[in-house]
Amino acid sequence: MKIGIISGSHRERSQSSKVARFVQRTLEENRLCSETWLFSLSGNPLPFWDEDLRSEDSAWTSALRPVHAQMKDSDGFVIVSPEWHGQVPSGLKNLFLVCGKDQLGHKPGLIVTVSSGDGGAYPVAELRMSSYKNNRICYIPEQIIVRHVETVLNDDPAQNNPNADAYFRDRIRYALGILREYALALRQVRASGVTDADVYRNGM
Ligand SMILES: Cc1cc2nc3c(=O)[nH]c(=O)nc-3n(C[C@H](O)[C@H](O)[C@H](O)COP(=O)(O)O)c2cc1C
Repeated sequence: MKIGIISGSHRERSQSSKVARFVQRTLEENRLCSETWLFSLSGNPLPFWDEDLRSEDSAWTSALRPVHAQMKDSDGFVIVSPEWHGQVPSGLKNLFLVCGKDQLGHKPGLIVTVSSGDGGAYPVAELRMSSYKNNRICYIPEQIIVRHVETVLNDDPAQNNPNADAYFRDRIRYALGILREYALALRQVRASGVTDADVYRNGM
């Protein structure tokens, strides 16, 4: 089983990347899946949506094909998003414009949000409200909000608040265990054929 991890911050040295790498390590060390794929939006690797998206010979083909292939091969996703002015970064919203149900449809997603302070709830609400309709990613009911992110999940223990750090390490492992079981269970939903209806390409 393969789990894809998306780090949604555009910043080069982002806290979201740190959290995403921790998620990847936790999946691998606990053998929660056989393969992981980490895709970071640091530096904006994908162009913003435009009308050439569907043309075969555009720059889109080389930018998107490897990303689509990795997503298609994944059974579940962890979406890591910082809170920027109470929102999800535009690059992450763009990802949901250029990837659809053929890559994400009826696969479980664990939302992990990041804040340097007490924030992090708005991107959870935004992702749950407006990022799934057409691509049909299935956000699981568990979520993680990494508050005061600079003080946890650092490789150097001296930089961590011991209580908060221990809590987040354990809570993330717990949530990933649940994601794994949804990933196994939803394989059956896709295999049943009921999700194949090409007539309803978009959700209501
Ligand atoms: C443009 C911008 C806007 C921000 N707005 C918020 C905010 O609304 N709420 C919040 O809790 N933190 C906010 N922050 C602080 C972030 O939580 C903090 O920088 C965090 O490290 C961002 O994650 P990143 O490093 O993965 O980009 C903002 C940071 C940036 C760069």
